[in-house]
Amino acid sequence: MKKAGIIGTGSYIPQRVLTNKELEKMVDTSDEWIVTRTGIRERRIAADDEDTLQLATNAAEKALASANIGPEELDLIIVCSITPDGPFPATACLVQAALGAKRAAAFDLSAGCSGFAYGLATGAQFIENGMYKHVLVIGAEKISKITDWSDRTTCVLFGDGAGAAVLGLVPEGYGILANSLGADGQGGRFLELCKETNCIRMDGRDVFKFAVRVMSEVPLELLAKAGLTQEDVDLFIPHQANIRIIDAAAKRLSLPREKVYVNVERFGNTSAASIPIALDEVVKQGLIGDGNILLTVGFGAGLTWAGNVIRWWGGGER
Ligand SMILES: CC(C)(COP(=O)(O)OP(=O)(O)OC[C@H]1O[C@@H](n2cnc3c(N)ncnc32)[C@H](O)[C@@H]1OP(=O)(O)O)[C@@H](O)C(=O)NCCC(=O)NCCS
Repeated sequence: MKKAGIIGTGSYIPQRVLTNKELEKMVDTSDEWIVTRTGIRERRIAADDEDTLQLATNAAEKALASANIGPEELDLIIVCSITPDGPFPATACLVQAALGAKRAAAFDLSAGCSGFAYGLATGAQFIENGMYKHVLVIGAEKISKITDWSDRTTCVLFGDGAGAAVLGLVPEGYGILANSLGADGQGGRFLELCKETNCIRMDGRDVFKFAVRVMSEVPLELLAKAGLTQEDVDLFIPHQANIRIIDAAAKRLSLPREKVYVNVERFGNTSAASIPIALDEVVKQGLIGDGNILLTVGFGAGLTWAGNVIRWWGGGER
């Protein structure tokens, strides 16, 4: 049976770099504290006039070019974000207009930093049941607009950016082999938008414990669903939140470091954009080839978690 697979990727990173040294001047922190506790060295911040729509559209245009399809061939656009430009209209509808994707349905998906993995699983359903041929999934975030720049416990962690993937049918044996989605609303209060300040509020230690547990359990569950084992994994793209969480997951999975993609030092936590930005880098650098097994796992606000196992389709006749 043919499955949905990724046929193109793209990403967009804002130009402005915010270093740990600059943060030292803004809050009581140090480069040393941030690097040892999180692995983050710098992050990108979108310009004042650069909103989530722009970040999303820029990444989407690159993904369409890499998939070699035009916007009019899109059937559905899903924008995964916790920082949409407004409650409505959906940012996905604005992207639809910006791209000129006249035929595409469009909606936003809010699943925190797990958004993109949720989005891949969602988009794949529409393709595999025959309803649609091409689905564009975008993770786009302007976290800087909901960051409390006087709160050292959160402002050092996040960054802005966007990544996108086009889904389409791929030849038999390839594509998204398994998905796992989950939520625990009881933990929602650990990571939320504070109503008074309209900024992120987080219980870091609770989120950390949750993240380490999820990142240890979900990969194994996903691989079992796909009928695979840890040895089959060629590349693991974990959500880029904290190097200590990534290292703990890699250890639990007995994965050597070269099989775990890390870019948290350059971008910080870009929420729903983190996995698709990493994915696009992986593709551009040729780190994943035809037939390779790719594992993605995200976790975040909700609390939510989600992951996908993908047998990579390297291109050619579909
Ligand atoms: C936030 C996080 C890096 C903090 O690391 P930690 O080792 O748990 O640190 P703690 O929260 O125990 O804080 C240790 C001390 O550092 C201080 N501290 C917090 N942020 C700091 C900063 N930026 N600079 C310097 N000191 C800081 C704390 O106030 C605390 O001081 P205290 O002991 O005097 O109270 C870590 O908990 C984490 O990564 N959590 C998960 C966050 C996450 O991934 N969120 C997004 C999910 S999608």
